[in-house]
Amino acid sequence: MRVSIYAAAGAEKAGAYDKIVSMRELKIVTEVKVYKYAELPDEYRKAVDEAKAAAMKAYAPYSGFHVGAAVLLDNGEAVSGNNQENAAYPSGLCAERVTMFYANAHYPEAAPVALAIASHTGGAFTDEPVTPCGACRQVLLETEGRYGRDIRILLYGEKHIYMINSARELLPLSFAKESLLSR
Ligand code: THU
Repeated sequence: MRVSIYAAAGAEKAGAYDKIVSMRELKIVTEVKVYKYAELPDEYRKAVDEAKAAAMKAYAPYSGFHVGAAVLLDNGEAVSGNNQENAAYPSGLCAERVTMFYANAHYPEAAPVALAIASHTGGAFTDEPVTPCGACRQVLLETEGRYGRDIRILLYGEKHIYMINSARELLPLSFAKESLLSR
């Protein structure tokens, strides 16, 4: 991802941005570790297994895209869930949010430490890792802020599994509670 910030003098004048007098460029880097299933640490392999099992129980008659998620909590519990679709499409919810909201509702004192996601479509798990939608990233970010702890994100694909250190890294330049307080 590339982010550029431009500054211009006399910006109040129409067309002033044609004359860029100084420029700074910020690069935002997200570190993604790529694992084979067998290389995963045990606890993460367990999370991936639970996400895969949950995907098989998804309610996805409209998209045929069955997503499962599993959250590991710092109290040792694991919670899994899946996408729940609806004939009124926007009324449905993604696997990640179903799962994270369930975890937060039932274990409000336990910090989520890892989230695994897997998706099954056309009779097989996807070859490439499935990545969470923007709204789910926003919810994961809120959860990190709420518990003050990074959540490892494990994205399952048959070929390889991606691990990202935090939801924050999946959603750069994000809007969070700090944004409400800043001016
Ligand atoms: N979906 C998820 O559950 N998680 C994602 O990260 C992406 C999409 C669901 C929503 C919908 O039920 C189906 O997959 C197709 O978009």
